[in-house]
Amino acid sequence: MKNKKLVFSGVQPTGNLHLGNYLGALKNFLALQKETDCIYCVVDLHAITIFQNPKELKNNILETTASFLATGIDPNKSIIFNQSSVSGHAELAWILNCVSRIGWLNRMTQFKDKAGKDKEKASVGLYIYPNLMAADILLYKSTHVPVGADQKQHLELSRDIAQKFNNDFNCAGFFPIPEPLIPKNISRVMSLRDGLKKMSKSEESDYSRINLKDNAEDIIKKIKKAKSDSEPIPDNLKMLEQKPEAMNLLNIYSEISKTSLEKVLNEMAGKEYSDIKKKLADILVSEICPVGKEINKLMKDETYLLQILKKGSEKANIKAEENLKIIREKVGLI
Ligand code: TYM
Repeated sequence: MKNKKLVFSGVQPTGNLHLGNYLGALKNFLALQKETDCIYCVVDLHAITIFQNPKELKNNILETTASFLATGIDPNKSIIFNQSSVSGHAELAWILNCVSRIGWLNRMTQFKDKAGKDKEKASVGLYIYPNLMAADILLYKSTHVPVGADQKQHLELSRDIAQKFNNDFNCAGFFPIPEPLIPKNISRVMSLRDGLKKMSKSEESDYSRINLKDNAEDIIKKIKKAKSDSEPIPDNLKMLEQKPEAMNLLNIYSEISKTSLEKVLNEMAGKEYSDIKKKLADILVSEICPVGKEINKLMKDETYLLQILKKGSEKANIKAEENLKIIREKVGLI
């Protein structure tokens, strides 16, 4: 039997959701909600693979929930919940730890980046994090996973794990092989300070990113200060590609204004970057500020946010338990 299309994705509650999360993930979450069943998870167990201050973590779980709602994800259509409230994630992760191979995990570039020079001091959780991610997806037998390009390798690992489970337990097609849904035009929003680094929550300088909670003044200042290029805007893509910071600014503008990059180049060729920066700041203010305002408003009602998570967890738990019952049988657990 063909599996019904089911979308799953997760966002870590580590604070400061930014334009990269918005364009790489959240906007797609919203588009997919219109066409199919979706499960969107605040992946708190992933967050603790790097130490989190407990009080801040709780606040960040609520803020990530508020960000889902503020971008338009509707809890009556999609399931919104936090990972730790459905224990099936941890249980399946353990089973998949026994399916996944050490050699596969050793290839994960994100572990190498996050663990830094002294890998011996990284948590074991950080190392096996991609197995937990596979568990998140497979627990619901999800078929499609909207993510930014930085998660591509983890998704490939989830596919390998699904395939190996199906082979090992002689149940071809049991776990769907999940398809990544990576935005075509802007799969990686880059830092405003360094066009070769992705925009990230953990980057020290706040000028490197546009946060969803930034006000108009912050956005205008950050775009004004963003690195660009000393020469005027080129008239062709080939030249633009050699200027990563300029490429990033034009790419973001193209995505938010829903204008192709070619058209933006046609319009802007020969002009100074201050011209495109002005347009970009305006369009960002009109798209991002309402989201930030809504996040702040929702954060004033903790009871409401907790209730959304509770309802979502109940729905997710029913689906998870149904699948886990069969998974335990397949593995031979009583
Ligand atoms: P996280 O929390 O780092 O990021 C959440 C989503 O935002 C995307 N993203 C970006 N997209 C474009 N440009 C950027 N600069 C940028 N920065 C972040 C990420 O690709 C992601 O889609 N491991 C995941 C969370 C996770 C998950 C899952 C995702 C856990 N389980 C299961 C999908 C399915 C993560 O750390 O994302």
